[in-house]
Amino acid sequence: MKIGGAAVPRTATTRFWLPGTQRILRPSPPGYLWPFQSILAVQAIDSYIKTNEARFIDELLGLLRIPSVSADPKYKADVARCAEAVKQRMVEAGLEKVEVCPTAGHPIVYGERIVDPTRPTVLVYGHYDVQPPDPLDLWHSGPFDPVIKDGMIYARGSADDKGQFYMHVKAIEAMMKNGGLPCNVKVMIEGEEEVGSDNLGVFVKANKDRLKADVVLISDTAMIANDVPSINTGLRGLSYVEVEVTGPNRDLHSGVYGGAVANPINALCEMIASLHDKDRRITVPGFYEAVKELTRAERDALAEAPFNEAEYKKDLAINEVRGEKGYTSEERSSIRPTLDVNGIWGGYIGEGAKTVLPSKAFAKISMRLVPDQKSDAITELFKDHFERIAPPGIQVVVRPHHGGEAAVTPIDSPAYQAASKAMEETFGKKPIPTRGGGSIPIVALFEAELGLKTVLFGFGLDSDNIHSPNEKYGVFNYMQGIRTIPRFFHHYAASGR
Ligand code: BES
Ligand code: MN
Ligand code: MN
Repeated sequence: MKIGGAAVPRTATTRFWLPGTQRILRPSPPGYLWPFQSILAVQAIDSYIKTNEARFIDELLGLLRIPSVSADPKYKADVARCAEAVKQRMVEAGLEKVEVCPTAGHPIVYGERIVDPTRPTVLVYGHYDVQPPDPLDLWHSGPFDPVIKDGMIYARGSADDKGQFYMHVKAIEAMMKNGGLPCNVKVMIEGEEEVGSDNLGVFVKANKDRLKADVVLISDTAMIANDVPSINTGLRGLSYVEVEVTGPNRDLHSGVYGGAVANPINALCEMIASLHDKDRRITVPGFYEAVKELTRAERDALAEAPFNEAEYKKDLAINEVRGEKGYTSEERSSIRPTLDVNGIWGGYIGEGAKTVLPSKAFAKISMRLVPDQKSDAITELFKDHFERIAPPGIQVVVRPHHGGEAAVTPIDSPAYQAASKAMEETFGKKPIPTRGGGSIPIVALFEAELGLKTVLFGFGLDSDNIHSPNEKYGVFNYMQGIRTIPRFFHHYAASGR
């Protein structure tokens, strides 16, 4: 047996080991981590993190100043600049073979540190691209001009995902400086998550060997609250389409023609309204076919997570919640599929009134999917249905955008257990497993292409305003993540997988 490149000397203790006891009887090869060494290392790491807190925050603010908006071509150079900055930081943290890998779109930054091929390997994934900052006038400070106020870091990308992936870079630095990495690590930070990760899919398929690992670790989700730690064990899939509805061949005077010709905006509204029935169920035929009902026990387990509906309504300034009949708010936003209009436009939207019967109307529609609903199949079902319900005098074109599959992650795996223990140590409470409502399409792809399960080790909060003006991330959450990640590595290494 080779450990750390050197053959382990055969001694009396190694010759007669019983299955499962070799860890205890085998003489410690160089670099082998005994649990007490982990304890000492974690103590040293904690104090290193404390000493370096100001610099860790400062470095994050530097990344947040780069407007790496992947959706808008005008930021292409900034996205590339951000990739270079991430590479530089990964090199400084002690990673090796760090590379900015070009793709047909925005680049992927990859680096690794293989300390011992016989130890487990953790593949860390994150994204350095961000959502567009619009609407700009609703920001209290510049989206790319980060400020810290009341313990919160305000900037686009602070929680989603720069603040979260950078915790891993700093945690790796802290481990490297204090006893070394207890497991191998591969770090892949992409620049197209917010636009569907199409080129990451290509990269993963072409680099299966390079990405070989035992588990994927991703910090890009939220917890219930800072005093109620939780770990997401599921993500929804996504089908996203744009619809174009055409009436007459040109804009018309709404007095001269109105009432005699189908108005595409009126028609679009009718069509959209018909997509839900009175119980708020989606009317697209076949939409629920693959959806598995959770058992009562599973639903009861989900309901264990604290949820205060009064607070929820107050936070959003709504007087009532609304959703599919027969399900709670938490279920509606995690284990049930949805259909929502994300944008709608057409006709005259400038100042004052213009009397016009428009030629065209548009909408962007997202469907959040649950396990076993296939994104492409749902997109097809939607397209067929939407074309079929067009009223006379109206033409419909449905254009699919990106999509992705739902994913569920196990809670009985050594990696989940390591994550749970790590959080229990830093938060003083065992984290609650919860199902998340957002989508990270690459999670299903990691499983399909690399056979890897993921641990969603997110430290954000739903109230971080991701994708919204005034996105924020708590300094506490950032530092807590940096403290918790090394503990995951040590527990995971000790689990032997
Ligand atoms: N980090 C989010 C996903 C997320 C947020 C998951 C909160 C769970 C809780 C990610 O960056 C994201 O925004 N994903 C997109 C999907 C993508 C294909 C554009 C989403 O969910 O809309
Ligand atoms: Mn994200
Ligand atoms: Mn996002």
